Amino acid sequence: MKISELEIKNFRNYKSLKVSFDEKVNVFIGKNAQGKTNLLESIFCCCIGKSFKNCKDKELILWGQDAASVKMTAEKKFRDVKVEIFYDRSRKKTVKINSLPIKRLGELIGEVNVVFFSPQELKLVKESPEQRRTFMDIDISQQSRRYFYQLSRYEKILANRNKLFKICSTLDAVKETIDIWDRALVSSAKILAFERQKFVQEILPYAQKAHSFISGGKENLQLSYRCGCGVPLDENFEENMAKLLRKNLEKDFKLGYTSIGPHRDDIDIFLNDVEVKNFGSQGQQRTVALSLKLAELENMKANCGEYPILLLDDVFSELDAERQARLLKFVGRTQTFITCTDEREIEGTLFHVSAGQVTKIERHTQKR
Ligand SMILES: Nc1ncnc2c1ncn2[C@@H]1O[C@H](COP(=O)(O)OP(=O)(O)OP(=O)(O)O)[C@@H](O)[C@H]1O
Ligand SMILES: [Mg+2]
Repeated sequence: MKISELEIKNFRNYKSLKVSFDEKVNVFIGKNAQGKTNLLESIFCCCIGKSFKNCKDKELILWGQDAASVKMTAEKKFRDVKVEIFYDRSRKKTVKINSLPIKRLGELIGEVNVVFFSPQELKLVKESPEQRRTFMDIDISQQSRRYFYQLSRYEKILANRNKLFKICSTLDAVKETIDIWDRALVSSAKILAFERQKFVQEILPYAQKAHSFISGGKENLQLSYRCGCGVPLDENFEENMAKLLRKNLEKDFKLGYTSIGPHRDDIDIFLNDVEVKNFGSQGQQRTVALSLKLAELENMKANCGEYPILLLDDVFSELDAERQARLLKFVGRTQTFITCTDEREIEGTLFHVSAGQVTKIERHTQKR
């Protein structure tokens, strides 16, 4: 997968930009607040349909403007794809794939796969479980549309179930309708739980390999999916989870929310049998986070037949020289977009980013 061209209008601090990219490594250099992250964000939006920042679509529109657009052309193994997103302050965004408007965002996800890595992702291991769930969700959704749809279905059902606790004044009133929600909830929960378990099992060998490459092979990395449903992942999953929901009903009613389910999932991470989240050093946590991200690349390649696009936002400043060098070894495998504030010894096409303008820098000594 390769992005050949990007055209953006009134997106973040970009008034108008049209740029074509190197099929290997693209390095964007610029001072703070010039638009480096915004550029990666526009690419990410064309791949996932929403930003990696937890923000509203309207926030992407250049201040003082009413509308924005991003157009991205990508070359895939068997066909090319053009993604266009139009943002408007007064209505929902519209998305076109190869000039045809799509009805659901699920039609976009998986068209052009992406792995995004920023200093925030370096905290993947030590941050809250929510970040690790998002990690699973974005990755699996790109590989399975069914997962993406089930995830949004699950979230809606869960919100409705929790709302029931708020609007009903007695437990008996809740009991009148809860069964309908619970039946729907467990059928989506099952798909999420099984897919997440499979995902964690699949990335483990790649993560171990990447980890031993980056750390010099001294420690044994283990990952295990921790299911928040409170029941075994077997053929009786739905029935058992429904029973457990029933058992917890009074407690959930008092709490005002559902206490079991995939919204409580996590990934347990160990190095030599020690839990990294609570006991790992900062360096160990970062190396594991990096390994998980690199494992995503390899796993997507294995499952989809092509490497995803790799976006590296400002990560080199956060890594020591040895880790930087080892990360760069991976970078050559797929089209990569790197942002940094100072010039680094990275082979690839250089771009200078300044106040929403991007200029290609000709390097005569460029090695290939
Ligand atoms: N909707 C918007 N309209 C106009 N400008 C915006 C909008 N959203 C963000 N900006 C501005 O865009 C500028 C560039 O942001 P960006 O995060 O891309 O910088 P950066 O080059 O990555 O900087 P750093 O090196 O600090 O990470 C910021 O100053 C920000 O205030
Ligand atoms: Mg930035």
